[in-house]
Amino acid sequence: MTTIKRLDALEILDSRGRPTISARCELQSGATASCSVPSGASTGSGEALELRDGDSRRYGGLGCRKAVEHVNVEINSILAGSAFASQSELDRALIDLDGTTNKSRLGANAILAVSLAFARARSMESQQPLYRNFANMIGSQLPLLPRLTVNLFSGGKHAGNQVPIQDVLVCPISTSSVSASLEMVYAIYQTAAKEILSRYGMRLLRADEGGLAPPCATIDELLSLAVECIEQAGYCPGKDVALAVDVASSHFFDQGTYNLGDEQLTSEGMVDRLVTWIDTYPIVSLEDGLAEDDWDNWPDLFARIGDRCLVLGDDLLCTNPKRIQRAGASHAANALLLKVNQIGTLTEAAEAYRLARSFGWKITVSARSGETEDNWLADLAFGWSADQIKIGSITQSERLAKYNRLLEIETEIGAA
Ligand code: PGA
Ligand code: ZN
Repeated sequence: MTTIKRLDALEILDSRGRPTISARCELQSGATASCSVPSGASTGSGEALELRDGDSRRYGGLGCRKAVEHVNVEINSILAGSAFASQSELDRALIDLDGTTNKSRLGANAILAVSLAFARARSMESQQPLYRNFANMIGSQLPLLPRLTVNLFSGGKHAGNQVPIQDVLVCPISTSSVSASLEMVYAIYQTAAKEILSRYGMRLLRADEGGLAPPCATIDELLSLAVECIEQAGYCPGKDVALAVDVASSHFFDQGTYNLGDEQLTSEGMVDRLVTWIDTYPIVSLEDGLAEDDWDNWPDLFARIGDRCLVLGDDLLCTNPKRIQRAGASHAANALLLKVNQIGTLTEAAEAYRLARSFGWKITVSARSGETEDNWLADLAFGWSADQIKIGSITQSERLAKYNRLLEIETEIGAA
């Protein structure tokens, strides 16, 4: 049993300079740890509620003082002094205390910060790495490091909509080593930065996750540029390095129409377009190709590309077991983008994970566009043997904290 002595929290700032929350958990044994939670901008409508103060005098209403107070007062007064046999016991207590289906009373940000801080404090108490604690949660003995999918170009909500799709990511596939993958990504990123300067006369413009935001006129121009940069950096597209795309199409879908730049496409037209991209470019993973509520057309997309590409659901699934069940039963996808803060506790994220695995799906563990310098995501991806990890680009410290933690883990397990 693990007894909580005290829980508290504070408001901190994320990588966009917006408030978020960090919680600290002190155990009876003296072990004490903090964890902070990220925040999305391109959010799915099925996500758990991130509690914001709504007071326009502070941070345009984005303050997190209410969430902080919920940890300091209500959650602490109920849970301090209580003993828990497992992470899931603690998480169940938080879910019951909140009492809503989307964590809107206490706030998913408050609840997740406590859930994570408890996990880290327990790992300190048992003197084990955090990933071991995560691996135990899902009964995994031999964790594996994920393949990197790294943001090269951004558009959509993360980059001022210069192109409607959100991310073009590079995935080193000729190596399974994190350190070798990062070397390859660095070479491609530098090549892309030079190429953008010579082609568009532009200095580096970086989007929220550090991806470059070239002023390409079309999506095809952007995808071709990514392929050219891979080649120019000395790698073979599709053999050494593949592409992943986050279309994030919920954000340009309106009343049955996909507003893809100057074009208006029906769902059938959008599926055709996605198939053309998969046929033309070395894309191994396609995220949110269709909108989160376009359920009728996901099975068609899956039938046409599911044998050669991951059909990955982010807004579609929201790390929510109910949505994953529906997608699995209707053959809508074959991969889950797992973001713990979409559901609000580690235990429910583990349920989402198990359910996705029961359908034979692949898992991509993902950061959010608003991140902190915390690195628990790397331990989670390794502990749960995620197939892929999506952290963002390699230029900002809130992203590098996670890449560097993966390097640390790789060195540790290599030495072992
Ligand atoms: P978000 O975007 O963190 O802004 O929601 C990330 C994504 O869509 O994958
Ligand atoms: Zn996404």
